[in-house]
This record gives sequence, structure tokens and C-alpha cells, in this order.
Amino acid sequence: MLPAIAWRGRSLVMIDQRKLPGQEVYVHCRTYIQVAQAIEKMVVRGAPAIGIAAAYGLALGVMALGAESGRSIDRDFERIYLRLERTRPTARNLFWALERMKAVYDRTRAEGLKAVRTALLDEAKAIEQEDADINRAIGRYGQALLADGWTVLTHCNAGALATAEYGTALGVVRAAAAEGKRIKVFADETRPFLQGARLTVWELDRDGIPVVLITDSMAGWFMRRGEIQAVVVGADRIARNGDTANKIGTYTVAVLAKENRVPFYVAAPTSTIDLALADGAGIPIEERGPDEVRTVGGRLVTLPDAEVRNPAFDVTPAAYITAIVTERGVHRPPYEKNLGKG
Ligand code: MRU
Repeated sequence: MLPAIAWRGRSLVMIDQRKLPGQEVYVHCRTYIQVAQAIEKMVVRGAPAIGIAAAYGLALGVMALGAESGRSIDRDFERIYLRLERTRPTARNLFWALERMKAVYDRTRAEGLKAVRTALLDEAKAIEQEDADINRAIGRYGQALLADGWTVLTHCNAGALATAEYGTALGVVRAAAAEGKRIKVFADETRPFLQGARLTVWELDRDGIPVVLITDSMAGWFMRRGEIQAVVVGADRIARNGDTANKIGTYTVAVLAKENRVPFYVAAPTSTIDLALADGAGIPIEERGPDEVRTVGGRLVTLPDAEVRNPAFDVTPAAYITAIVTERGVHRPPYEKNLGKG
């Protein structure tokens, strides 16, 4: 499978996730503005993938700057940085990746534009490669939480499409399958953008991992019937106390899991953890446009001007989370104390 994002010479190629699974179309971004728009429109999505795309976007932006001798590019750099930063507010990985790129810029700017360009591109490539390695480590730790024969519920898509490769929540499933465990996945359809129905089903099916699509409203019933043994989801931002922002609907799933004594696991890289936030109350929640809710697959399902709310994420309080799996290991409550530990 081609990765969700690939650097090809002087452009960033992304599989258009709005069109999957019906069409496999690739979008070529040659400017930082095109990258910013691709993130906003969700051509590319998923916290780690957004961070990787933004890092390449910043490198692309600086590559396009003219090398007039003696002129400082500080203001250009800031303009590019700010444009990429204001694409999607919730995923911590976006800000983390841009901050990493800025540190490289600050270290190399005195050496001239050529050195800056090379260093920024190298850093974007490193962020991408590290993410691939991190996901395998998350998978190795997380798979131990799943037993042979289990059915696992996931919400949204925290898979290869949302990362450099392999995935976080789906990485855990992949690693368990690689250990020979027979794991079946229940995928919530994940209204309104349908990441579960469109992306998770497509991705797992291509890997030969059994996957069953359910609507978001069915999860509680299957848990009550004992048909789900664990929930594994990804994350967009995790506060110091373990409160976790993820795709809207995750909170509902977590409450249902606790009520039905089903373990609820979050799988995410440490770059998703926001140590500056004591708890989830400070996590910015993106509100998206009303037409995502008014339509299904581009078809209007309500009045064209129906009043709509469309928060893209919710925050699951730490009390509902059985464990958080990162590339450093399996962290259990109290997260305030244990999240920082390897
Ligand atoms: O709006 P999206 O599709 O970018 O939201 C994605 C999620 O909520 C994922 O679960 C999260 O980013 C983790 S992806 C490894």
C-alpha cells in the first residue's frame, strides 16, 4: 500500500482520503499553501499524518523563497509557519512537528538559505521515519493487551492512513495479528466524516484483518451482549492527567465501555501528549462546517439550512481510560505520575 503521504522530489503526494474507498486519487502539493489547504479539507488527516504533512509543507515553503543575498527570511518563515499552524487546532502533533521544524530553522538560519532548506527537508523526513518506528513500538506494547479470539472496537481511523505507516490503534491490531492472534475489528462508521466506514474498513480489508462495520449507535448494544472484548482508539491530544481528545463520539464509546466493563485503550505517540495542559478542559476543539452533518456522501439528508453543530472532537476524561499505550510502553493511572515514565 502506498503510504498516505510520500515525498517525491519537489512535491508532497497524498492519497485523497475524502475519495476513499471509491476512488484512489493522489493529490500533488507543490506549495505550502496547497499543503495547508489539503490539511484543512482533510485530503490528509489523522494527528501524526497532519504533523508530517505540515513539516513537509514548511520545507516546501522555504524551498520556494528566493535567495537574495543578505535578506533575512525570518518574516517569510513566520508567515509560512503561521499559515500551516492555523489549519486544524486540535491535533497536538501539528504544533509539535512545526515546533521541531522551527528549532531546526533557528539552529541553521545563520548558515544561509541553502543550509536551511537542506536541514528542514531532512527534519521532515526524520519526523516521518520516526513516526513509522514509533507506531511499530506502540504495536509491540499494545498487542500484549489483546488476547487470541477477541473482537476489538475502534472509532475513526487511527491506522496507516493517519500516520507515516502501520497506525497507532490499528498498529496494535496489526501487531496482535502478526503474533498469530485471531482478532476481529468492529469499526464504528464515525459520523459525520465516516472515517470508520470509508477508511478503517478499507485499510483492514486490504490487510486481510477481519472487520465488521457498525453504525455509531450500535456499539453499546454489542458491548452489552458481550461481543466486544476491548476498545482501542487513537488520540489527537492528551493532557498531563490523561484526559484525551479524539474523534467526536469517542467519549460516548468510553462511557459505554466502562458501564459494560470493557477495557478502553488509547494508543498514541508521545508527540500527542501536551504537557502544557493540566487537564482536558484546555484542549481546543475544532468546529467544522455544517454541511458535513447535513449531508451523507454528498447527499443532503435534512433541510439545506438546518441548524447544525459539528465539533470534530470530544474529550474523554482519564477516569474512563484503562491504559494509554505509547512508544515507551503501557501507561496506567494515575497518568499524571505515569505518563512521563518509560
Ligand atoms: O478528523 P480526523 O480524521 O483528523 O481525526 C482523526 C482522529 O481522531 C484519530 O483518531 C487521531 O488523529 C489519531 S490518528 C493516529
